[in-house]
Amino acid sequence: MCGIVGYIGTKRAVPILLDGLKKLEYRGYDSAGISTLENNSLSCIKEKGRVDQLKNLVDNENLNGTIGIAHTRWATHGKPNKINSHPHFDNSKRFSVVHNGIIENYTDIKKFLMDNGYQFLSETDTEVIPNLINYYYEINHDFLKAVSLACNDLIGSYAIEVICSNFSNKMIIAKKDSPLVIGIADDGYYIASDIPAILSYTKNFYILEDNEIAELTLNEIKFYKNNLELVHKELETITWDASAIEKNGYDDFMLKEIYEQVTSIRETIGCKLNKSLIELDNIQFTKDFLSNINKIFIVACGTAMHAGLAVKSIFEKLCYIPVEVDMASEFRYRNPLVDNKTLAIFISQSGETADTIQALKLAKSKGATTLAISNVIGSSITREADIYIYTHAGPEIAVASTKAYTAQVVLLNIIALYCAQILETISLDEIELLKKEILSLPTKIELALKDISMVQNIAKKIYNAKDIFFLGRGIDYPVAMEGSLKLKEISYIHSEAYAGGELKHGPIALIEKDFPVIGILTDEKLLEKSISNIQEVISRGAKTIIVTNQELKKDFDYVIKIPNIHPYFSPILSVIPLQLLAYYISKEKGLDVDKPRNLAKSVTVE
Ligand code: AGP
Ligand code: GLU
Repeated sequence: MCGIVGYIGTKRAVPILLDGLKKLEYRGYDSAGISTLENNSLSCIKEKGRVDQLKNLVDNENLNGTIGIAHTRWATHGKPNKINSHPHFDNSKRFSVVHNGIIENYTDIKKFLMDNGYQFLSETDTEVIPNLINYYYEINHDFLKAVSLACNDLIGSYAIEVICSNFSNKMIIAKKDSPLVIGIADDGYYIASDIPAILSYTKNFYILEDNEIAELTLNEIKFYKNNLELVHKELETITWDASAIEKNGYDDFMLKEIYEQVTSIRETIGCKLNKSLIELDNIQFTKDFLSNINKIFIVACGTAMHAGLAVKSIFEKLCYIPVEVDMASEFRYRNPLVDNKTLAIFISQSGETADTIQALKLAKSKGATTLAISNVIGSSITREADIYIYTHAGPEIAVASTKAYTAQVVLLNIIALYCAQILETISLDEIELLKKEILSLPTKIELALKDISMVQNIAKKIYNAKDIFFLGRGIDYPVAMEGSLKLKEISYIHSEAYAGGELKHGPIALIEKDFPVIGILTDEKLLEKSISNIQEVISRGAKTIIVTNQELKKDFDYVIKIPNIHPYFSPILSVIPLQLLAYYISKEKGLDVDKPRNLAKSVTVE
């Protein structure tokens, strides 16, 4: 999910590759590597850490090849270490490959290749690619055909560059669901997952589409579909400036990450729901184990804790096990009732939050089985826990968490469903129905992001407010909390979230004319009651903004419609307009959206 760079031309490849990697550094990554091709010989230098470390190693080698591939890794499968870094070779060291993305069916392919005598060195999904290419190459001795056949077998996302020691003047690249562009200059072809990496060399690019392959030689480029049918492509000229391109044309990382939720949720779901029995990467619970669990704790901080709250009641409904959600900083100091019948789940985007790590250590010391959910491979929390699983949301750069939150909620829901399936607490029909609803999420998120003019308009109207309330009942209450936190973090407007029914017990005293109140109304069963709560604030002059998937008869100042979905999963859709509202209010106020004052992306102090 980080970046790849490639070069085939008349210049020395190494400086171009290192320069490209350096330009991708803003994305954050954990390791880097480079492979060049010279006189039918492949080199490979890779290391955990930053590009400068790689540069030091590369400087000591005499790599003069004019063809090369390079990679910065955001690990998804296997710890960030040298052996898991890219490039990866096949067993015969004939092919060198760099890859961005996730190969979802890599365990099946790995098994197939192992049955055919192949061995694997790394823990990555990527290592199946060079070996699969080699498998086909051994059969047909055709580089292009071997890559195309391998690509046809891959499920998941990939942008790959492949070089081969048998072909001293060739590189083959391919992509699906991970970006790849080819820049054209007088001296050769520049390839990158992101235009900024190579923008200083050319402004003329071909953009590779999904399921396409390009075959590059020193003086020719040919495009094919995966079935090797030739494709004609138009050259495009880029006029954006470098900083806009870094953010893929978005003004800020936060906005980019909000829009990335369509693909990040697809990655989170992966192929977990493909088979009739749900499969989770690292988790293998038995019925005996789960039947022995009498309490689940979900412990986290900030947005990650809101993800826990959004799934608490679903876990309880599906598995009949009581679930407590706690702030890590409170859990640690209140001597919680944890024992060896407790499953304690810790959620952290960064996996480095000090309070969450300490809470995990405490639960472990009291005998709980600890499960860590993190977005960062090899992060501290995953090393401390008994079991871990990744959200696969991709790097989140903006301080305000958006795509990591929705990924956490989706993954927790899938875990709840997985446990219910093992415990046999719900019917197979119900499981199938819920699986279908989860699988529909990416398309529905896309719909929710389609027309945002209403949110932009509301932001213009309320950005000067001093206080804003968020109201929600049931499943909508944690979403109200998350919407309120987002707003506070990046707009510096004071806001509170209340359970709809609580308002009349005190906070309603604050409501006066034009006080903005944002109501989240997604549960049909609670609709009447929620509307009554909103009515109470309307009578006191509040300006009402409603986020709903219901058909509402009453008049409100603004109604933002979101797509319909099973009530369990509505927090994943209803949070989107709230993320956007916080974003556009912050923009109206001219604030730094990505780096709000006083905050850090990863809170490593207690
Ligand atoms: C989210 O927008 C916040 N920046 C913050 O609440 C964050 O979720 C919290 O600090 C937890 O971080 P973690 O997920 O990396 O542990
Ligand atoms: N899934 C691959 C890995 O973990 C590639 C990750 C990336 O895109 O950087 O090595």
